[in-house]
Amino acid sequence: MKLKIDDVRTRFIKHLGGEPGSVYASPGRINLIGEHTDYNGGFVFPGAVEQGMIAEIRPNGTRTIRAYSIDLKDYAEFSIDDEKGPNASHFRYIFGVAREMMALGIPVEGFDTAFAGDVPNGAGMSSSAALESCYAFAINDLFGEGKIDKMTLAKVGQATEHKYIGVNCGIMDQFASVHGKKDNLMRLDCRSGEFEYFPWNPKGYKLVLINSCVKHELVGSPYNDRRNSCENCVKTIKELHPEKEITTLREATWDELKEIEGKVSAEDIKRATFVLGEKDRVLAVCDALENGDYETVGQKMYETHYGLSKEYEVSCEELDFLNDIAKECSVTGSRIMGGGFGGCTINLVAEELYDNFVKTAVEKFQQKYGKKPVVIDVVIGDGSRKLC
Ligand code: GLA
Repeated sequence: MKLKIDDVRTRFIKHLGGEPGSVYASPGRINLIGEHTDYNGGFVFPGAVEQGMIAEIRPNGTRTIRAYSIDLKDYAEFSIDDEKGPNASHFRYIFGVAREMMALGIPVEGFDTAFAGDVPNGAGMSSSAALESCYAFAINDLFGEGKIDKMTLAKVGQATEHKYIGVNCGIMDQFASVHGKKDNLMRLDCRSGEFEYFPWNPKGYKLVLINSCVKHELVGSPYNDRRNSCENCVKTIKELHPEKEITTLREATWDELKEIEGKVSAEDIKRATFVLGEKDRVLAVCDALENGDYETVGQKMYETHYGLSKEYEVSCEELDFLNDIAKECSVTGSRIMGGGFGGCTINLVAEELYDNFVKTAVEKFQQKYGKKPVVIDVVIGDGSRKLC
C-alpha cells in the first residue's frame, strides 16, 4: 500500500476530532484470466495488488456513521437504522456494508471514519470492492470479534453492490480483496467457493497494466444486461432438458448452446459462446502455468481479448487499440481486464520487450487520443488487514 497511515490519521483527526481510531486496508485486484465467469459459476484467476483503500475507524457510541472521504473532500452523516441511507455512492458502500453486517447479526454501532484510496477509479481494478472489503473486515474486527469468515465478508461486499449500488456483480473482486496474499494469484471456483493460491513468479516476464483512463459506468447497465443474457440461455437449456441440473453456464455444453440457437437471441448466443470459451481458457492457463509455459498463457489472454471484444462486446476502441499495439510489440499476452467498458489492458511482457512496449503504447495512444495512458506495474500484495 503506497498510502500512508499518517496521512489518513492527520485528516481523520482534523475532520472528526478526538482520539485516533484503528486503521484498516484492503486492496484492489488484477485478474490474469477468467472474465465474466464468476456469476456464471466458472473459474477466475485474480490477485490482490499493492494499491487499495485505507480507512481509520473509531466507534462513537451512537447509531450514526460520520464519514469523511479524503479523496473527494466530502463529508456525510447517516444513521445505520435508516433503511434508505446516503445518496452518494462512496458513502452508500459503507452504509450497505454496515447494514449487511447487521443482517448477519453483528451488533454494529455508529462510528467515525475517514478513508482514502490509490486504486485508480474506473480502471477495472475494483476500487469499490476494496472499499467494501475494507469496511466489512473492519466492522467484523471492531464489532463482531472477528467471527465472520473471509468468504462471508466477501459476500457482504457483493450484496452491497447488488442491493445498494445496483450492479449484479459476481464474487471475484471482493473475494480477491479479502483473500489476497503477497506474490500469489488465486484460482477460485466460483461455483463451489474452493480456491487455491498459485505462487506468481513469472521468471523473465512482467505484468503491466495500461490504463486507457476511459471510464466505464456499470450501473444501470450493460453489465447487468450481459448477466441477463447468460441467465436467459441457462433458462432455455433447462426448458429443453428439465432433468438436467443446471443453474449457471458452468453446467452448459457446446452442444446445448447449439440446440438453443433460434430459441434465444443471436446476441445471447454470442455472450454464452464467450463464457463457455472462457471457462476452457482458464483451465488451459492453469495447466500452462504449472508447466511454466507462458507462451500459452499469453495466447489465451489474446483469445480472451478477442472474445470480450467481439462476443461479449465489453471492449471499446481505445482498449482494442492498446491490444493491437501489444501485438505489434510482440507482447506475450494482452487483454482487457475486469468488467470492461473502459479501464485497463493487462499485459504479460517478456522483460527485454518491456521498455519498448511501454514507450510505444504511451506514444501511440497519446498521438491518437490526445492523452497519455497510465502505466501501472503490477505488484501482487496482501488482502484485507488491520494496519494499527
Ligand atoms: C466486475 C465484477 C466482477 C466480474 C468482473 C468481470 O469486476 O465486479 O464480479 O464479473 O467485472 O470478470
